[in-house]
Amino acid sequence: MLACPIPHVLLPTGAAMPQLGFGTYKVDPEVTFDVVSQAIELGYRHIDTAQMYANEAQVGQAWEQSGLSRDQVFLTSKLNNGNHQPERARDSFAQTLDDLRTDYVDLFLIHWPLPSLYDGDLMMPWRVLEEFFDQGRARAIGVSNFQPDHLKVLFNHAEIQPMVSQVEAHPYLPNNAVRDMARHAGMVTQAWSPLARGRAAHDPLLASIGEKYGASASQVALRWATMRGDVVFPKSLSVQRQQENFMIFDYELSEQDMESISALDEGEAGRTGSHPDTMNRL
Ligand SMILES: NC(=O)c1ccc[n+]([C@@H]2O[C@H](COP(=O)([O-])OP(=O)(O)OC[C@H]3O[C@@H](n4cnc5c(N)ncnc54)[C@H](OP(=O)(O)O)[C@@H]3O)[C@@H](O)[C@H]2O)c1
Repeated sequence: MLACPIPHVLLPTGAAMPQLGFGTYKVDPEVTFDVVSQAIELGYRHIDTAQMYANEAQVGQAWEQSGLSRDQVFLTSKLNNGNHQPERARDSFAQTLDDLRTDYVDLFLIHWPLPSLYDGDLMMPWRVLEEFFDQGRARAIGVSNFQPDHLKVLFNHAEIQPMVSQVEAHPYLPNNAVRDMARHAGMVTQAWSPLARGRAAHDPLLASIGEKYGASASQVALRWATMRGDVVFPKSLSVQRQQENFMIFDYELSEQDMESISALDEGEAGRTGSHPDTMNRL
C-alpha cells in the first residue's frame, strides 16, 4: 500500500505522537487481536484503548506479535470511572501495563471527569497520574472529556500540567471552547469519534467536497480534523475502511472548504456521546 507518511505532533515532553491512530472503542475483545493486528499491518502506529474497553490485553498481544519494537508504537490507555481512588488507580494501572505487555504507556488519561462522583475531586486521580508520570510508567498524562471548568481546576492545582485533552470533536460538534482552552495551555487535542460514529461517511456536503480531491466523505472529515491540528484515531472493523481512513495526508483542503465543513456545526445537537457534565456512570 502506498500512503503518505503520517505526520507527528509534539507533546509538551518533546515526544512525538502520530497524528493518525486507530481507535478501539466497542471493538469486541474476541476480534480485537485480529482487527488491531490488521491495522498495524496497514501502517497504523498509534493505538487508543482504555480500561473501560476491556480489550487492552488483546491490544497488547497484537502489538507484541507484530514484530514492532515498543518504541515504534504509541499506546494510549485511560483510567476507568470506577478507579479514581488512589489505590484502585494504582492497581488498575499496573494491570493495564501487564495487559498491554509493556512497562510504560505513551499516554495515560483520566477517561471522564465525573463531576458528581468522588465529591467532584478532580485532583484525586490527577495526583496519581502525576505519580505514574514521575515513575516513567506513563510517558505523558492528560485528560479526556474535561470541560473548560474541569481543565481550570487542573491548571490551578496540578504540579504537572495536563499534556493532552481528548474530547469528542467532528464537523457536527467542533467543540471549539475546550479545544481553544487546551491549545492556549500548550496541550494537544485528540478528537474522539472523528467520523461522528459513521455519520460523516453519509454526509452529502463532505461527499461533494471530496469529489474535488478524489477523497471519500470520511476521508474529508478526517482531513478537516487533522488540518485543524487535532489528532484522530478512527475505528473500523473493516480492512478496506481502515485503509481508507489511513490515506488522508496526500492533499490539503482549501480554506473555503475548511470553512464550509466547519459550518456543519450543530452545537449540542451534534453530540454523539454522553455530555461530560452529566456523565456520572461508574
Ligand atoms: N475518550 C472517550 O470518551 C472516547 C469516546 C468515544 C471514542 N473514543 C475513542 O475514539 C475512537 C473513535 O471513535 P468511535 O469509534 O466512537 O467512532 P468513529 O471512529 O467516529 O466512527 C466509527 C464508526 O464509523 C464506521 N466507519 C469507520 N470508518 C468508516 C469509513 N471510512 N466509511 C464508513 N464508515 C466508517 C465504523 O464502522 P465499521 O467498523 O463497520 O467500519 C464505526 O461504526 C474510539 O474507537 C476510541 O478509541 C474515546
